[in-house]
Amino acid sequence: MKINTITNHPPAVTVAADNPPLVAPIYQSVKFAFDSIVEAERHSAGEREGYAYSRIENPTLQLLQQTLATLQGRTHCLLAPSGVAAVSLTLQSLCKQGDHLLMFAEGYGPTRMMVKRVLSRFGVKHTVLSIDDHASIEAVLSTTPTRLMVFESPTNPILKVADLEFLCRVAQQYGCLTVLDNTMAGLHAHGHYPIDVFVHSLTKYANGHGDVLAGAVITNESLFKQLRADFIAMGAMLDPHAAFLIQRGLKTYGLRYERACQNALALAQFLERHPAVRMVRYPGLASHPQHQLALQQSGNGGGVVTFEFKGTAEAVRACVDKLKLFRLASSLGSTESLVLPPSMLQARDLTSEQRLWAGMTDTTVRLSVGIEDIDDLIADLAQALG
Ligand SMILES: Cc1ncc(COP(=O)(O)O)c(C=O)c1O
Repeated sequence: MKINTITNHPPAVTVAADNPPLVAPIYQSVKFAFDSIVEAERHSAGEREGYAYSRIENPTLQLLQQTLATLQGRTHCLLAPSGVAAVSLTLQSLCKQGDHLLMFAEGYGPTRMMVKRVLSRFGVKHTVLSIDDHASIEAVLSTTPTRLMVFESPTNPILKVADLEFLCRVAQQYGCLTVLDNTMAGLHAHGHYPIDVFVHSLTKYANGHGDVLAGAVITNESLFKQLRADFIAMGAMLDPHAAFLIQRGLKTYGLRYERACQNALALAQFLERHPAVRMVRYPGLASHPQHQLALQQSGNGGGVVTFEFKGTAEAVRACVDKLKLFRLASSLGSTESLVLPPSMLQARDLTSEQRLWAGMTDTTVRLSVGIEDIDDLIADLAQALG
């Protein structure tokens, strides 16, 4: 054989089953070959195991899917190229023309934008409520047939804790599916509630290093078949290299999440005592109105702390600009700490009444806490607040 044939048909290297690599390799291949037409046909008829094309299935993706489903206490998982894609594909798959869905002013803005901009063009109607307005939630569900409700807990950035027992109970009572964006609480949280579908931005705590975008949808067998068929039809799949990096990040997921929660609690306690701070919102503090609910539902306060500055909006900007370790950047769940000022937190799609429910003001600051040494983080906040 000549040069271009040799380089395009390399020899197969096999690894014996009793000599496995401790780190699973990346299957960075779009295609998988069969030895004969009969075997290829058997595979497409579902009569044998195997892989054909990575937009549909790939061993690296499958390993990550199984790991994530197990962490979340479910059986099945689908992957998407971002957290927003995971939310968007899920809602598109579960809703059809004429359906109604319920979402919340305290939720992640791009989820609402997806419903308002895209789903509404396909005839899906929606209602926006406050996550703690239980009476209105029950009133809407009991009077308007509702396909699903999509929500978060804790909410981002105001850190209200959604009452999962209540939401699951009323949803089941009125035949509405529950879709929980569990990004903030983490992959290990809330699995004991009868949530129908969990969505996650893996970009955050799962990967943890701020270098990969990805999303996951985790559910049980009944909804999985429909979701999988629609996800394949819509063609948004994660690349194996991104999946490999997330699998690698997951090795330290538990340690990172625990450390972020410890740091967040210490920072929240520091801020609560600081004279320049009017109010701290952190579910891990006894002063949080839903502290007990947070502990009962997820066992911790999470890795995000939100606080209200006592001074003017200008003073808040000056303070945020003075921070050195807390970098001014979007996102959360990375190893390094981040800060967002009020102007970058405002949800532009909300009415003024809905903004009041969401609790945002022009002195609200969000800290996404990393795993740095706590003394350094406190010193950075102290110098900026000072
Ligand atoms: C709660 C929540 N859901 C979804 C997302 C979107 O994730 P991604 O950036 O991976 O699309 C984010 C991002 O901040 C988020 O905070």
